[in-house]
Amino acid sequence: MPLSLLAIFLAAGLVSADNITATVNLGVSKGRSVHRASGFIYGIPDTLNQIPDHWYTDIGFNYGRAGGAQLDTPARGWIWGIDEYQGRLESTLSNYQTCRKYGAPFILLPHDVWGTDHTNSSTVWPGDNGDWSDWDKFVKTLMGDLEANNALEGLVWDIWNEPDISIFWRRSQQQWIDLYIRTHKLLRENPKYDIVEISGPSLALRPVSGNTWWTDWLDQIAGNDTVPEQYSYHLEGGSEEWDNDLQNTNATLAALLKTYNLPDRQININEYANHGEQVPAGAAWWISRLERYDAFGLRGNWLSGWTLHDLMANLLTKVSNPSDYNATDYAAAPEFQVYKYYNLNMTGSRVETVGTGDRLFDVYATVDSDKVRILSGTRITSGNWQITVDKLSAVGLATEGSVDIQTWGFAGTSIYEEVDAPSDRGVVTHTYAGDTLTFPIYQTDASTAWAFEFSR
Ligand SMILES: *[C@@H]1O[C@H](CO)[C@@H](O)[C@H](O)[C@H]1NC(C)=O
Ligand SMILES: *[C@@H]1O[C@H](CO)[C@@H](O)[C@H](O)[C@H]1NC(C)=O
Ligand SMILES: *[C@@H]1O[C@H](CO)[C@@H](O)[C@H](O)[C@H]1NC(C)=O
Ligand SMILES: *[C@@H]1O[C@H](CO)[C@@H](O)[C@H](O)[C@H]1NC(C)=O
Ligand SMILES: *[C@@H]1O[C@H](CO)[C@@H](O)[C@H](O)[C@H]1NC(C)=O
Ligand SMILES: *[C@@H]1O[C@H](CO)[C@@H](O)[C@H](O)[C@H]1NC(C)=O
Repeated sequence: MPLSLLAIFLAAGLVSADNITATVNLGVSKGRSVHRASGFIYGIPDTLNQIPDHWYTDIGFNYGRAGGAQLDTPARGWIWGIDEYQGRLESTLSNYQTCRKYGAPFILLPHDVWGTDHTNSSTVWPGDNGDWSDWDKFVKTLMGDLEANNALEGLVWDIWNEPDISIFWRRSQQQWIDLYIRTHKLLRENPKYDIVEISGPSLALRPVSGNTWWTDWLDQIAGNDTVPEQYSYHLEGGSEEWDNDLQNTNATLAALLKTYNLPDRQININEYANHGEQVPAGAAWWISRLERYDAFGLRGNWLSGWTLHDLMANLLTKVSNPSDYNATDYAAAPEFQVYKYYNLNMTGSRVETVGTGDRLFDVYATVDSDKVRILSGTRITSGNWQITVDKLSAVGLATEGSVDIQTWGFAGTSIYEEVDAPSDRGVVTHTYAGDTLTFPIYQTDASTAWAFEFSR
């Protein structure tokens, strides 16, 4: 990390005093949770109601993102003609309706409706040789069809996905920025679209000063007055990449926005967590981060073909065969229980938390009228950490004494394993003094998340 960056983090007080302690401050309320981490991309069957309601409502599902990706003939997208566009539009509209049924906003992926997954560098791309006529026609057709199908409420138009990854964009960076600005203006020309939010840049890589996909984009959207309602990007790299962490990118994006004199906006990590992180420990770590930075997050989806349109981005499995798209014997995959506990049990108000200095262990905590609840997870690694809970007096407890801590374990190592409930790991009494309680975490595997509860 460059020294200047380190200085920013130190100045902002973001480096924890040590590497093993995560803290919960019961004295600082952060308001109610809206379950910003309970979204996922794709994962919804194109057949309405194929996944029964309770699977969505249990986790407080609150964000979807789709556009008919990976469907084959006769639904390969716009570049194969209007009929093949129609197939992708129908898939998109169906997923939109499912999201809206649960009150979740829906992020539209136009690059999928257009058909990037059936292209290569020899096929035509938007704006080739300065000709935008076909792209403009596509955008206007899609705008009209969404309007005609009453699909504008709760809609977020994500202008282009991951142009910095060659499979999604085979032309220059500037041709993509031109596309972004042009499309933003087309959308804003239509007053019916005032209720539709725009998101971007949805880059795969992160908002750091050396990344010209970000800096050139920020510079030109500022110059053209085309700032999206949501700044979106992806965090799906490895834990060894220092910038693949909201704790760093929240600060680096803030610095870039200042440089280009741009306003703050809602942050949407509209793809988060790599494939290996899709275990309970990883889910709890990501929930802790997203809640702390008030960023919306949608789970990345590592499935393909028809299975991409099923299984709620691996929160679900099937008793018979999870790869059989038509089977409906849905069951909870391991992480489902974490999201369910996060939604149904961690009620009340969020409180301030700080993750460990090594960035590998983190906590999310809530206080309700009955209990304090703390969810903890690791960045898929084992080790020894501890949780310090400050200001017990803020929830009406004595400044010294003892609390009985109930522990729940969220186990499971495979996305295809069925796990029907967290397991009861018993109650241990801990004494404390000085209005501060500390208890150890012995994490012997890289996949189990924990919840700790005590009465107030
Ligand atoms: C925390 O871990 C980092 C990286 O391993 C190390 O450089 C640093 O000295 C550690 N800090 C403390 C206080 O142990
Ligand atoms: C590119 O895709 C087109 C359309 O599918 C196909 O006809 C062509 O062979 C592909 N070219 C290359 C170089 O893969
Ligand atoms: C406006 O956007 C265009 C790309 O569409 C770019 O070439 C131009 O430099 C931008 N203008 C400013 C003032 O940033
Ligand atoms: C995240 O960055 C924004 C500025 O973009 C800042 O207002 C906010 O305080 C930061 N969040 C945290 C928890 O540091
Ligand atoms: C699902 O079932 C229908 C009707 O039997 C069949 O046409 C379709 O191919 C099946 N889809 C998949 C992806 O298996
Ligand atoms: C979560 O809340 C539900 C509904 O109140 C309750 O039935 C369940 O036992 C709770 N689970 C845990 C692990 O506390």
